Amino acid sequence: MFFRILPLLLLAVIGVTIAAEIDYPLDAPAPDGRRPGGTLTQSMPAPPIAEEENKDLKRERNYPDQPPTIPHTIRGYQIDKNGNKCLSCHSRANSARTQATMISITHYMDRDGQALAAVAPRRYFCNQCHVPQADVKPLVENNFQTIDKILQDDANAAQKP
Ligand code: HEC
Ligand code: HEC
Repeated sequence: MFFRILPLLLLAVIGVTIAAEIDYPLDAPAPDGRRPGGTLTQSMPAPPIAEEENKDLKRERNYPDQPPTIPHTIRGYQIDKNGNKCLSCHSRANSARTQATMISITHYMDRDGQALAAVAPRRYFCNQCHVPQADVKPLVENNFQTIDKILQDDANAAQKP
């Protein structure tokens, strides 16, 4: 056993020596991203979870295929093998009574694009794709421009002599 791990031990010792020689920081400062400050090994307190927005105001979608964000709270809405609270309002049959947007045809399609009679299993767990809205700052900088803006900029540029 000892002879089997001996090469590994040697490698580890060499590794540490090399690391020490180039003055490699063993506890480097953490990248300032989602978790600002601290070092890699330090645990920092997690920021408080943001409140869900509950204003019933839909947000613009950035592109047609974006899963719309949820404009209402979903606290306590259960989704498991016994039932799906979301479908009690959003299913085809219930949407007229509740005036909730009906889930679109894609939610009935299997992976081959065949429309099924009931919600496709791959669209059953709504929270995989849809998230409740929260009034928070973006975690990282984002320069995303919608296609409408890009088309408009192109048109404006083409008009200039
Ligand atoms: C009590 C009925 C009800 C339940 C339960 C419910 N919703 Fe809704 N939902 C609505 C209504 C009504 C709207 C329309 C906007 C509004 O009034 O908030 C809506 C809007 C939405 C939208 C925005 C649709 C769009 O076109 O932008 C999404 C996404 C959504 N709900 C997802 C969910 C998910 C996911 C769940 C389960 C976790 C859920 N909803 C549970 C009633 C409901
Ligand atoms: C695999 C990802 C995924 C899952 C799971 C999913 N959705 Fe969606 N949903 C989308 C996408 C993408 C769109 C926008 C494009 C489209 O309609 O397919 C959408 C659109 C919607 C819309 C707006 C429909 C419209 O016509 O404007 C509602 C409401 C909605 N989803 C509710 C739900 C509910 C309720 C569930 C759970 C039963 C669910 N979704 C599960 C990805 C998903």
